[in-house]
Amino acid sequence: MQAPTALIAAVGGGSNAMGLFSAFLEDPDVAIYGVEPAGRGLDHPGDHAAAMTLGSPGVIHGMQTLVLQDEAGEPWPVHSIASGLDYPGVGPQHAHLRDVGRATYVTATDDETLDAFTALCRTEGIIPAIESSHALAYAMKLAPTLSADDVIVVNLSGRGDKDIDFVAERLGMV
Ligand SMILES: Cc1ncc(COP(=O)(O)O)c(C=O)c1O
Repeated sequence: MQAPTALIAAVGGGSNAMGLFSAFLEDPDVAIYGVEPAGRGLDHPGDHAAAMTLGSPGVIHGMQTLVLQDEAGEPWPVHSIASGLDYPGVGPQHAHLRDVGRATYVTATDDETLDAFTALCRTEGIIPAIESSHALAYAMKLAPTLSADDVIVVNLSGRGDKDIDFVAERLGMV
């Protein structure tokens, strides 16, 4: 079977992403991307939850990892359109994978995520969780840079039934 060209998963605490990444860590030809929530934008603390992108070394919930925190080590308030991603830390395996150059971490904003959510609903009839839609948003950026033979695996970590009322309201559909 053909190995995937790239893996993409949303990263909150990081568990669904590790579930996918762990199967391919030993295969250097498989590119690995984790997608963090850029929320309303990365410029202001409190508008996002991008711990890999803007966090600093610290300790949270017993983990030494990257944390969005103030000078006293208190976690920043965080935001994401996905309630499952609004966490000021990240599993330390992700910090390690980036340090050793095995995985790349990117971000998707709330608006990019909503676009990806509706795109999958419309094109495939699949309602993805708004968390997973962060991974889809990056897949939509990456795909045009690859060839038709390449294979991207996007981790759909959950169903979006739980999010559909919120999304419909946010898009002015109800
Ligand atoms: C559907 C779904 N995907 C992803 C996540 C993010 O968590 P993790 O990054 O630990 O997989 C959550 C968290 O609640 C979730 O509900």
